[in-house]
Amino acid sequence: MSTTVRTQVAIVGAGPAGLILSHLLEQSGISSVVIDQRTRTDIESTIRAGILEQGTADLLTEIDPNTRVHSVGQRHDGIELRIHGEPHRIDFPSLVGRSVWLYPQHEALKDLLALRIGAGQDLRFGVTALRVEDADTLRPRVIAQDADGASFEIDADFVVGADGSRSVVRPVVAGASSEGYFREYPFAWFGILCDAPPSADELIYSNSADGFALISQRSAEVQRMYFQCDPATDPNALSEAQIWQALQARVPGTTLVEGPIFQRDVLRFRSFVARELRRGRAALVGDAAHTVPPTGAKGMNLAVADVVILARALDALLTDGDERLIDDYAELASRRIWKAQHFSWWMTSMLHTAPDATDFDRRRQAGELRSVVESEAGRTFIAEAYTGWPFVAA
Ligand code: PHB
Repeated sequence: MSTTVRTQVAIVGAGPAGLILSHLLEQSGISSVVIDQRTRTDIESTIRAGILEQGTADLLTEIDPNTRVHSVGQRHDGIELRIHGEPHRIDFPSLVGRSVWLYPQHEALKDLLALRIGAGQDLRFGVTALRVEDADTLRPRVIAQDADGASFEIDADFVVGADGSRSVVRPVVAGASSEGYFREYPFAWFGILCDAPPSADELIYSNSADGFALISQRSAEVQRMYFQCDPATDPNALSEAQIWQALQARVPGTTLVEGPIFQRDVLRFRSFVARELRRGRAALVGDAAHTVPPTGAKGMNLAVADVVILARALDALLTDGDERLIDDYAELASRRIWKAQHFSWWMTSMLHTAPDATDFDRRRQAGELRSVVESEAGRTFIAEAYTGWPFVAA
């Protein structure tokens, strides 16, 4: 059995990028079909990052004025950078008049899925995209397969790859899946979720003699914390006592409130930007287009920023036949992508201890951190980047 559906935009991937794009397109009167190989439960339960930039929170509020960003999520007016036990707060509102929201990505996904399904969006779970054909013509197609193995085809005017770092759309846009700009890092994060009250009101990014730790939160009862580890670390190899010891040692000056650990994972670090972001009638957004290390909390925000630019370009193309904005998509999106790449790399390199770091390197790094946090210009630079640059560059 083979089914073909006709739509204007085929969106591969029902993550934040794909769902927000389908909403923005609908507002312009453009139809779309969204497919995702995962089930709805999988999408809603995968734990990802948790920080929304001001612009992302504003957009989610515009999409749904009753969004839980403001009830379940929490506004954070600053972060702390801790350097060998010394606290340095970056106060966002006084520096840049903006804030961020701690709101887990899977909660944002629950909201967006409910909203899109409620709006009658053609959204299909358990459908795996196999390949994109005819991207160089005016009628590109997505060839896919549903959970029962039946083939499914989307006949569209444009195809968007919002399908994450293992994108099926990327080869047709960028030549080959691996075509792009890469950086690997010699460390990873050991992440935990635990049942405990918060150990701090705001996020603490700590650079210590033992390496990096991030103390984040989820709610009054659940906390998220990370510490730097070797990328080859087996998440099950450490006892809870060893994990707490590693965390406590990396946040001198704070006694963390411990509690049962109910999830642990090792997050590998990678910086990547696909060499091409658009070819003919196909484009990439979000993790399909780029990956950043988690230190700058940019992943989901960057995906949303791509989508805002692309939605406008698709409106011009499909409503007015105007190709100028779609021709500019890659250039315009790249500017922000590379600023975020830089920020994520810089925060990472400034806060972590490389395995081969010498005494000179460690002291130079503490000097770099102090030169930033002890200067209003330095703090402002961090606050601007962390709370996010405007979505579409002037
Ligand atoms: C998180 O809470 O998961 C989180 C927060 C900030 C980051 C990365 C992850 O930079």
